Amino acid sequence: MQLLDGKQTAETIKTEIAQQVELIKATGGKIPHLAAILVGNDGASETYVNSKVADCKQVGFDSTLIRLPADVSEDELLAQVDKLNSDDDIDGFIVQVPLPAHIDETRVTLAIDPAKDVDGFSPTNVGRMCLGLPTFISATPNGIMELLARYQVKTSGKHCVVVGRSNIVGTPMSILMSRNSNPGNATVTLVHSRTPNMAEVCRSADILIVAIGKPDFITGDMVKEGATVIDVGITRLPDSSRASGFRLTGDVDFTSVSPKCAFITPVPGGVGPMTRASLLQNTLKAQNLRQQ
Ligand code: GUN
Repeated sequence: MQLLDGKQTAETIKTEIAQQVELIKATGGKIPHLAAILVGNDGASETYVNSKVADCKQVGFDSTLIRLPADVSEDELLAQVDKLNSDDDIDGFIVQVPLPAHIDETRVTLAIDPAKDVDGFSPTNVGRMCLGLPTFISATPNGIMELLARYQVKTSGKHCVVVGRSNIVGTPMSILMSRNSNPGNATVTLVHSRTPNMAEVCRSADILIVAIGKPDFITGDMVKEGATVIDVGITRLPDSSRASGFRLTGDVDFTSVSPKCAFITPVPGGVGPMTRASLLQNTLKAQNLRQQ
């Protein structure tokens, strides 16, 4: 069993990006600038956004964090989005989700200029991804593809089972893995809560990608010997023995699954850091495209 070390791979990517930023600086170019809008004070979202800001600092990007109260109106949030759309110094921005229930997430996503949509959530960018056109691929699927590529995991002709059909992970993952590309060229099955024989389908996977947000859902008996397992889940479980008061758990029961695997991502330190590195890659790409 080999660990797919997302933490180390993300550090490598960040070093590559930092070198690009040095080159931009040396030639008097524009420093990439990422902005993030954070609504409310959900603990997990706060941690994620703070990490994204810290990542920017690490690679030499400019960053702006816009914090809005949980009761901000949809119109006020849309006004902030508009402001970032027209701010020439901002190369890309994200609106951290989930948003409070009174805000229509789709309306907000639709308001983001696709050229600055470094999350790749807008219909334009999702559509471009489906058609195989140049675009911003959302950070988690992009990070997983990058991890598979850098560890040279063979995907061509393999059976890839994606568990979960979210817009952010499961659905784009199923499209990317079926595409005529490397990684890709897999035969893909997407399973979800209405799939009757889920364990059986999972057992037939050469590559199992799990993104449902249910701690330890995938157990050893659901995994084929020699499979590659990508665990996207990251749930905070209360743990009074830790200073933070919680521990992070994936969707895969690592103890029973890992002995059967050729490759597996740990949680934490697998997909999470790759997601963050992908956002930086997309921001650098946005900066490049805006300078052309
Ligand atoms: N919430 C969880 N993951 C993400 C992400 O990749 N982008 C944004 N904007 N919000 C998230």
